Amino acid sequence: MNWKILEQRSYTPYSNTPKACIVVGKSGNYYPGVRVENISFPLTIPAIQAACCFCLADGDTPESVLLKDETYPEQLDFWVKEFDLKKEVVSNIENVQFGDAAISIEPSLVKNKLIDLLKDAITIHSDFPVSALLMTPAGYVSGVNVEVSDWTFGLCAERLAIAKTISYGVENLESMSLHTLKGEFSSPCGACRQVIHEHLPDNEINFFHADGTLSVHYTSDLLPLSFSSTSLTK
Ligand code: THU
Repeated sequence: MNWKILEQRSYTPYSNTPKACIVVGKSGNYYPGVRVENISFPLTIPAIQAACCFCLADGDTPESVLLKDETYPEQLDFWVKEFDLKKEVVSNIENVQFGDAAISIEPSLVKNKLIDLLKDAITIHSDFPVSALLMTPAGYVSGVNVEVSDWTFGLCAERLAIAKTISYGVENLESMSLHTLKGEFSSPCGACRQVIHEHLPDNEINFFHADGTLSVHYTSDLLPLSFSSTSLTK
């Protein structure tokens, strides 16, 4: 791996400013994070938030963060304080290897996998686990919701799955499936709909409900009259 390749995975059509970092977990595993912008700028997912949330969703604890240079990414201070992270500026990341984000699952077992994933959610405030699976040609990429001390720095399962797909360089997002056991109707929040809209604008989205039923929708139906403007893209 090298910084250029990792940074190129960033989704930054609005700033043209790619950003990446790598979080090292207590397990010794490496977690890549890239900046994932949104047309609604405040919904942008910073590289460090992404990487720390992937680490936590993996049952690991962030221990240090590898940075390309001293131009620190946004939110760095929060995450450094939250986990007492060591900051290391390293130019050579040749020996860094990431795990596989895309896993192979039989389509008939997606529901079981979603149920199984709920146990990985970090729900210290809500006790409301949510799971998501993003289908790509390479396999399924998982996401769960992650909560940290400050509610506003956590990530929903759907957004974590999207940020993970992009940060791990998995391409061609095809469809999303999601599940929650505690909601009467499993359905993405407004902020997730906005981010889903940008990466899966006209794709299938499967809601696996708590009562065992499934409803199939199109992402284009989830956000009518959505916010858009070509003047924002650089
Ligand atoms: N949550 C999701 O993971 N996805 C959604 O679409 C709605 C909300 C999570 C965020 C938080 O951890 C908990 O559910 C309660 O809001």
